[in-house]
Amino acid sequence: MSSKNEKKLTDSRNSQETSPINSDEKFLDQTLRPNSWAEYIGQKNIKDNLKILLKAAEQRKHPPEHLLFYGPPGLGKTTLANLIAKETRTQLKSTSGPAIEKVGDLAAILTNLSPGDILFIDEIHRLNKTIEEVLYPAMENGSLDIIIGKGPSARTIQLDLPPFTLIAATTRIAMLSAPLRSRFSGGVFKLEFYSDEEIEKIIERSAKILGVEIENEAKTEIAKRSRSTPRTANYLLKRGRDLAQVREKNLTNDIVKEALNMLNIDELGLNSEDRAMLTIIEDKFKGGPVGLNTLAAALSEEQATIEDVYEPYLLKLGLIERTPRGRTVTDRARRHLNR
Ligand SMILES: Nc1ncnc2c1ncn2[C@@H]1O[C@H](COP(=O)(O)OP(=O)(O)OP(=O)(O)O)[C@@H](O)[C@H]1O
Ligand SMILES: [Mg+2]
Repeated sequence: MSSKNEKKLTDSRNSQETSPINSDEKFLDQTLRPNSWAEYIGQKNIKDNLKILLKAAEQRKHPPEHLLFYGPPGLGKTTLANLIAKETRTQLKSTSGPAIEKVGDLAAILTNLSPGDILFIDEIHRLNKTIEEVLYPAMENGSLDIIIGKGPSARTIQLDLPPFTLIAATTRIAMLSAPLRSRFSGGVFKLEFYSDEEIEKIIERSAKILGVEIENEAKTEIAKRSRSTPRTANYLLKRGRDLAQVREKNLTNDIVKEALNMLNIDELGLNSEDRAMLTIIEDKFKGGPVGLNTLAAALSEEQATIEDVYEPYLLKLGLIERTPRGRTVTDRARRHLNR
């Protein structure tokens, strides 16, 4: 593999995340990442299915079939992929949709796999269509079709690939073509938001790893305001710990509340951006419906960020609704905004 392609691929020891989070959070993600099924809290249905699938594959002495995980950021897609590699004692090679720019990049990655490897493609929705088509035969019958030459003299040569498992993750399942989706023969799994109890367990474990003592009430408070998302819970825990350390106090409920207020996170876990979105729909567009592109322009945000980051949680809380004509705010949102 050329050194250029090596950059596109990292192995599990130094796997690079591609999510839009800062390096502090990335580091936190890695130190707090669960290392076994037992440590991976919640998502019971997915775990049950995966355990059977992995066990059956092991008995057949064949790599597990291809898997796709989707859902909002921070719910544990990358963690699951890493966990599968750990639990099956296989090597995980990690890349992402935007890192694979040319057909040749993907060909290099595929031909460099060792038998049984897991190839993890993050943000697979950002893979371009020509490259996607190279993936089809690779996923289906383990072959790489390469076209040599152009025009009438072009011919296809077929290379056999080592048996491998593709695990892909995306926040935007709707952007995946039907043919690609259907090739995840092992299953397409949607990650759900976590319950407050599950988030509390995650906070408890993280606090232990970070070596902080946290009051029960403080734990409940963070869980309540964590957008039902492990990454956010870990982030809030760390901010609480920082404040406790600076104040030379324990991580009490008061400290947590103060930290959350400093971050402008309200009782529902909404931040300033979430509230801005609700306020704009309510005030500027008379409660909606307002189309996504208009909303994006009004908020100076990208449409994708609104759809991936803000909306899922606002929808979950029943603060907005999606109608064919656009987004509307609900009565619950109006009450929350004191309207
Ligand atoms: N089920 C879980 N149990 C415990 N901790 C979890 C769980 N899921 C996620 N986490 C924690 O949350 C962090 C974020 O998870 P992860 O990076 O897997 O999210 P993601 O779904 O891949 O997000 P993105 O879409 O932004 O890539 C992890 O580093 C881990 O510490
Ligand atoms: Mg991820």
